[in-house]
Amino acid sequence: MADVYATIADAEHEVQERLAIVLERRAADLQQQGMLRAYLADMELPDGARVLEVGCGTGAVSRELARRPGIGQVIGVDPSPVFLAAARTSAENLPNLEFVEGDGRALPFQDNCFDALIFHTTLSHVPEPQAALAEAFRVLRPGGVLAVFDGNYTTTNLATGDFDPLQACADAAMAALVHDRWLIPRLPALVKDAGFTIINQRSFGFVETTAPDYMLTVVDRGADVLAASGRIGAELATALKAEARNRVANGNFFGSITYASMLAKK
Ligand SMILES: C[S@@+](CC[C@H](N)C(=O)[O-])C[C@H]1O[C@@H](n2cnc3c(N)ncnc32)[C@H](O)[C@@H]1O
Repeated sequence: MADVYATIADAEHEVQERLAIVLERRAADLQQQGMLRAYLADMELPDGARVLEVGCGTGAVSRELARRPGIGQVIGVDPSPVFLAAARTSAENLPNLEFVEGDGRALPFQDNCFDALIFHTTLSHVPEPQAALAEAFRVLRPGGVLAVFDGNYTTTNLATGDFDPLQACADAAMAALVHDRWLIPRLPALVKDAGFTIINQRSFGFVETTAPDYMLTVVDRGADVLAASGRIGAELATALKAEARNRVANGNFFGSITYASMLAKK
């Protein structure tokens, strides 16, 4: 199975609609909101700043940006017309926010026209991230700020001990659903090669134990990937999903992912 986000415009309408719901649910998560606000607070922007979010999905991060005092205009770009339709509906009361269909590797904007550009859990889904970073460099004005936030998906953990079979679900899900799960360790070199100067890097933890809304989806998607590839049978996939739910009921479920942010300057 390939990363559906990497070729999102080719995905079936129904799949894009289902993912639109997933994106809004994730954006409503308090831990996710905390990480977003923490790295946005580190960004120093001029009054009336023009900000671009590349890979805006349904626009949750763009809305947060547009509501910030001092931000002049926010534009969200995404290749998915389905996500953009949902984004426009949710942003009707934000006159300083607009959405444009496009690909981060060929942005439909002039050189040097943004004060800040954000990739929020997007760059790990973009084949050829160096092309997207080169475009970010082009459209940012000199001194403009690049922000990248993404999962360090190789840290996705569902194990509570050695050889825990639930970890196979975590590994299979990330390998199948994220185009480059090594993006974060490679990011400093990629950003420097694109011409940026790194300002700061931060690491964040996401953990779910008693109400693991998101991490149970990782178990389920990983078990489904393993079954679809023929590595395990349908019975074992069902048993792995049941094991995770038994752990939740017994109070010994643990799921976590490390995220990271980087700010850099043109
Ligand atoms: C996990 S979603 C993140 C969406 C949004 N930033 C958020 O946090 O809610 C990844 C996004 O990257 C977008 N994407 C994938 N390939 C892209 C590309 N080549 N250029 C721009 N965006 C892309 C997808 O359509 C999707 O909306």
